[in-house]
Amino acid sequence: MNAIKIAPSILSADFARLGEDIKAIDGAGCDYIHIDVMDGHFVPNITLGPPVIKSLRACTSKPFDVHLMIDPAQPYLEAFADAGADIITVHAEADKHLHRSLGVIRGLGKKAGVSLNPATPANVIEHVLDMVDLILVMTVNPGFGGQSFIESQLEKIRQIRAMIGDRNIELEVDGGVTPANCDSVIEAGANVLVAGSAVFGSDDFKATIEALRGSA
Ligand code: DX5
Ligand code: ZN
Repeated sequence: MNAIKIAPSILSADFARLGEDIKAIDGAGCDYIHIDVMDGHFVPNITLGPPVIKSLRACTSKPFDVHLMIDPAQPYLEAFADAGADIITVHAEADKHLHRSLGVIRGLGKKAGVSLNPATPANVIEHVLDMVDLILVMTVNPGFGGQSFIESQLEKIRQIRAMIGDRNIELEVDGGVTPANCDSVIEAGANVLVAGSAVFGSDDFKATIEALRGSA
């Protein structure tokens, strides 16, 4: 099993001082910077786009893990790549041509991710497994930080871990992850944990990031 990586979601950061908050989580030892892009159409919330990501790029050398909750995503993939994304994740539900989008992302020289909403079965990614570098299992319905972890997704995480087999694919979990439930997520097979409110709502980013790596 890979070492556990922690990707704080800047959705829960202070948007008036995003750069400072990114430097703080970088200094606190995070592995990725998780950036939630929302369009008010695929999800009922609007956040930020390529110009903001481009401005933030100078704040850290940690990989930008860009979670696109936008429909369509394909017309914007190049803009996110140019803005400095390292991993670009699209939602299976938002993309009628998932296979093509994943190919476009890799063609741009970026890591390709696919995300599944809680109601979406694991098998929708069966035929694109060899085109992805990361699979993101949503453990809340996307759109907002601070929601409660949906326990039924643990079984899906287990299924996807088995589907991955010996492929070099990261298994990321996003939504309601806290130091109290991270062990169950890790035990189910996740190796990248996203955490928004758990990190930014704490008064010690470093201690929280370490706690999220689990007790094992
Ligand atoms: C939700 C986003 C998440 C969110 C997680 O749509 O994709 O990344 O920021 O926030 P918490 O960890 O607070 O559930
Ligand atoms: Zn996210």
